[in-house]
Amino acid sequence: MDIYERLKKDHEKQRQLINQVAETSGDTSERQSLWKELSNEAEAHAAAEEQTFYAAMIEKPDGQEKARHSIAEHKEASDVIKELDELDMGSGGWLQKFKKLQEMLEHHMDEEEEEIFKRARKVLDEKVAAELVGQFDQRKQQELKG
Ligand SMILES: [Fe+2]
Ligand SMILES: [Fe+2]
Repeated sequence: MDIYERLKKDHEKQRQLINQVAETSGDTSERQSLWKELSNEAEAHAAAEEQTFYAAMIEKPDGQEKARHSIAEHKEASDVIKELDELDMGSGGWLQKFKKLQEMLEHHMDEEEEEIFKRARKVLDEKVAAELVGQFDQRKQQELKG
């Protein structure tokens, strides 16, 4: 397995959780627990990605721009996650904002898979792409615990 397959596996999980949250309604325990799972997963994934994959990309002149773009998108999504945590889950505004987050995250993951990984394959050697898997897993576990 290389880092691209590993991140894609996480993206699939995230897409599934997004769809599950989107199917819930109102301030229910089901929505609460799925939202908690999704928000923790999305934040831990992004943090571990920045500390491993994007840290490697940003060192490469031809990787910098894309890495910075993605890190900016992580920040934007994280801000919307915080806003959602503050809003009443049973309100229409919550679902409206959630739909915005859904669009942001789906766009972000599609872009990573379609454009960023393509660039990364050019700037990172295969050995590095393989080594990053263990580093990513370790960081993500720590993020999920914290
Ligand atoms: Fe990302
Ligand atoms: Fe990602």
